[in-house]
Amino acid sequence: MSDTNSRFGVEIIGSGLCLPESRLTNHDLEECMETTSDWIVKRTGITERRRADQANGERTSQISTKAIQNALDDAKISASDLDLLLVATMTPDSPTPSVGCIVADRIGAGKIGAMDINAACSGFVFTMSIADALIKSGAYKTIGVIGADCITRFIDYSTAGRGAAILFGDGAGAMIFRRSESQAQGMIAHRMHSDGEGGKHLFIPSSLLDFPENFEFDENAINRVQMNGKAVFKFAVNKFQQVIADTLEDAGISPEKVDHYVCHQANLRILDSARERFGIPEEKLLVNIHKYGNTVAGSVPLVYAELMESGKIKPGDLVMFLAFGAGLTWGSSLWQL
Ligand code: UT7
Repeated sequence: MSDTNSRFGVEIIGSGLCLPESRLTNHDLEECMETTSDWIVKRTGITERRRADQANGERTSQISTKAIQNALDDAKISASDLDLLLVATMTPDSPTPSVGCIVADRIGAGKIGAMDINAACSGFVFTMSIADALIKSGAYKTIGVIGADCITRFIDYSTAGRGAAILFGDGAGAMIFRRSESQAQGMIAHRMHSDGEGGKHLFIPSSLLDFPENFEFDENAINRVQMNGKAVFKFAVNKFQQVIADTLEDAGISPEKVDHYVCHQANLRILDSARERFGIPEEKLLVNIHKYGNTVAGSVPLVYAELMESGKIKPGDLVMFLAFGAGLTWGSSLWQL
């Protein structure tokens, strides 16, 4: 639960996104693996996804830079107004420097603290809860948070890797969080969870050492997403519903009080399962998976930025942010805007 004793509240004053230009459609995938567009649409809801052009410099740091710049423009503030930059990603350009350091420099944020946080698809939701706590502590006033991943460079586009190949795409979203004098604004409940034992169901091995016990070593699997789709699906349906129930209980509210559920886009069937269980109407749970697939940490801020662009979110709305993914990880962040 969130500590409500802070003198401050937190407001979200801007959002932005960046998507690579290049599209990878279901029909493109039909050309390189045994699959059909019909199967993909029926089992996931996805029709296309974006793919960063790595060779031409389209990398996580680059789409992150564009996304935060768009968020700063939306907030009508400049990079020098930020006093901390946090980047949720599991696909930094390289192990070091962090995407945070690269982006802070590129946007001209000065010598502020900057770092990456890796919680896979849950990364952005975890990080927005961290930003809320840091602002409420009084230590920071304006924090930029980016969720960005270029996962397609770790995908095997052959029949052997088709489970992951059809699902994932690249993208970035960002938000600006600022201290508010209204204590009513900000996060009112949250959850962060992990289960390392389940990590074997979704991982990217860099070497032989990274193969879980009982996995047969396969050289072709190095640096490629390894996913037990069925096990992850089961985990996701279960934990997604559980975390919604727990967060509602923590906040002492019923599902219909929430104005928007901003959810990680992993598979349309997972989203539908939660909508059915809690009676969430379609207009309260935006789905954009058909256009972008699963963009890992980019997914949640992409949904938020699109909702803001369309004017669907209003000041004072109650918004629940939700995600689950590799690690395994899952969590929520419930905000009073
Ligand atoms: O951010 C979190 C990350 N990941 C997830 O949330 C992923 C969760 N899992 C999923 O979304 C689903 O498990 C997948 C979309 C990956 C797979 O869908 P599924 O309904 O669980 O398929 P399945 O693995 O149970 O396979 C059913 C059938 C199998 O054929 P048989 O054995 O019934 O003849 C598969 O070989 O579908 C076949 N299949 C495919 N066919 C065409 C599996 N993948 C494909 C494919 N195209 N891409």
